[in-house]
Amino acid sequence: MTASWEALSAKPPAQKLGFFSRDGRLYDCLFAAQFDRPLLDRLCALADHMRDITKDRSGDDFLRGLLAHKRVMLYFSQPSTRTFLSHMSACHILGLRVMETRDLKTSSEVKGETLDDTIRTFASYVDLIIMRHNGAGVAERAAWVLNTSPRPVPVINAGSGPDEHPTQALLDIYSLQRYLGGVDGKHIVMVGDLKRGRTVRSLSQLMRNFKGVRLTFAAPEPFRMKPDILEFLTTHGIPFRETDDLGSALKDADAVYMTRIQDEHDKDGESKGVDYAPFFLSKARMALLPKHAVVMHPLPRREELPAELDDDPRNVIFRQERNGMWARTALIAHIFGLEDQVLARRP
Ligand code: NCD
Repeated sequence: MTASWEALSAKPPAQKLGFFSRDGRLYDCLFAAQFDRPLLDRLCALADHMRDITKDRSGDDFLRGLLAHKRVMLYFSQPSTRTFLSHMSACHILGLRVMETRDLKTSSEVKGETLDDTIRTFASYVDLIIMRHNGAGVAERAAWVLNTSPRPVPVINAGSGPDEHPTQALLDIYSLQRYLGGVDGKHIVMVGDLKRGRTVRSLSQLMRNFKGVRLTFAAPEPFRMKPDILEFLTTHGIPFRETDDLGSALKDADAVYMTRIQDEHDKDGESKGVDYAPFFLSKARMALLPKHAVVMHPLPRREELPAELDDDPRNVIFRQERNGMWARTALIAHIFGLEDQVLARRP
């Protein structure tokens, strides 16, 4: 066990993996680097299998029995609709009993309790913590606190500041696999506030698991992808291009991943002066996109993906958000070591 947080947090992700794993499985799910190709393939297959099983009542009852003896805390200190609801639904599917803290005004943190104590308190009552926090690295810190305590419970990072969103990246891969038949060899265009969007940061890192992927980043100048991710891609030999010409990037795209401007992270109103319109999709721009391509978005959306494009069959955003429930159900089943039991159950 690594004794100090400083020593662990200073290590690159690859060296931290063992600390957050047990018995060859993920124990905590904190950053995208934890997902390797075999795990991604297994989780996608598990998610598909669970979907099939629940088509009938007895399969649904079977899954609900698996974790009926466990409890979970959903600790969301930042706004969330689908990440919260899809995790909660995933817990319901597996029978977990759910508690939640969403409004920090109701938490003893307002009385000055430290995050470490708050997390340890949750662990006194539950068997899993799923958390969203506005601080980068906070979920990792929480997992370290628990893993060095006498009562560790797993932590799932449901979004940490402008940093990481590994379960979103998992559901994005699951969606790409479902709609494109795989990710290998695909050209993926990521659009919007790539600097502060944690979804695109985590998703970009997962691309190291696939062969022949090409990335194009289309962002306004102040919100270009940060150098750490660009360096990561270079190190892993993943070709990428940066552009402000969305139209040309769309012409040979297999997937377009739209994101909104993340102005909640503004320190000085820096989003205000930025012309975001060149990075909006429109009917005219959709006409440039190949017929087989898909349009994705982690949501919530603003003007970058107008509702008038919802009837276009390439726009899969609402299917993507539903995939989140199944991807997260698979992840929780994996963390609790239930994969074999679930796969042995025939639909
Ligand atoms: C994203 C998030 O919270 O990072 N939403 C989500 O989890 N589906 C994207 C966003 O808020 O723009």
